[in-house]
Amino acid sequence: MNLEYGDIFEVRGQPYHRAMTRHPRARRREFEQLFARRPLMGGETILDLPAGGGYLQAMVPNGCTVEGYELASGFSGEEKLLEPAESWPFGSFSRVVCLAALHHIQDKASFLGQLISHTEPGGVLHAADVARDSPIAAFLDGFVGRFNGTGHEGAYLDRRMFEQVEGAQVAAYEDRDCPWAFGSQAAMLEFCTDLFGLQDCPPAELLAALERHVGIANGADGPILNWRLTYVDLVPAQAVSST
Ligand SMILES: C[S@@+](CC[C@H](N)C(=O)[O-])C[C@H]1O[C@@H](n2cnc3c(N)ncnc32)[C@H](O)[C@@H]1O
Repeated sequence: MNLEYGDIFEVRGQPYHRAMTRHPRARRREFEQLFARRPLMGGETILDLPAGGGYLQAMVPNGCTVEGYELASGFSGEEKLLEPAESWPFGSFSRVVCLAALHHIQDKASFLGQLISHTEPGGVLHAADVARDSPIAAFLDGFVGRFNGTGHEGAYLDRRMFEQVEGAQVAAYEDRDCPWAFGSQAAMLEFCTDLFGLQDCPPAELLAALERHVGIANGADGPILNWRLTYVDLVPAQAVSST
C-alpha cells in the first residue's frame, strides 16, 4: 500500500506524536542543528511548516516564538491546517523551518518558493531532510517501508532542487550529524517503532537494521543513533537594482 501523503499521516500521526512526547529530548540535536550557522537571537519569530504536533517551540531559546502549521491532521489533534497550493493567512517571519518533510513533497521548488515568500528580508529559510542515495534513505525506503503498513518512497534531497527555487539563494548546503539520544536500548526501539509507524516488527530485526544502516554508538547516558541530514539555508534573493 502506498497512500497519498495526507492519508499517511492520518494513519501515522498518532504514533509519531506519541514517540515525540514520550521521548521529547531524543531529536533535540536534529532541531538545534537547523540554526548551526545562524544562531537564534531572543525575540525572533519562526514559522514551522509542517510542524507535526508542534515540537520546535521547546527547542528554541526563551523569547523566540514559533508558529506551527500542518498539511495533515492526526498528530496532536490540535494542528492548524494549511493547503500548500493556496495563499497562506500570515505575513513574514525572521526564520522559516521545514524539517523532515520535503522528501514527501513532489514539487519542492514551488513549496520552497511559498516558504521563502514568507521569509523576511535578512531572514533565513532552514530546511533539512535525508540526502539522496544515503544509507538513511535506504533504511527508510527499505526497512521502514516493509514494516510501516503504508510503504515509504521518499524523494530525497539534492542541491539542484534548491538552486531552482524562485526568489531564493542557497546560503548553506551541508550534511550534519544530528544524533538521536536515548536513555536505554528499550527507549530507542520504542521511539523508532512509533516514529516510523512500524507494525509487527520484531525488536531484534529493528535493532539489526538500525545497526546496519544508521549506526549505533554509546553515549554518556545511553545509546545514540547516528542520524544525519542535509541542512540547507535559503535566503530571499536580493533585488537587482537597475540604475
Ligand atoms: C516526519 S513529519 C515531520 C514533522 C515535523 N517537522 C518534525 O520534524 O517532527 C513529515 C511531515 O510532512 C508533512 N507533509 C509533507 N507533505 C505533505 C503533503 N503533501 N500532504 C500532507 N502532509 C505533508 C506531514 O504533515 C508531516 O508533518
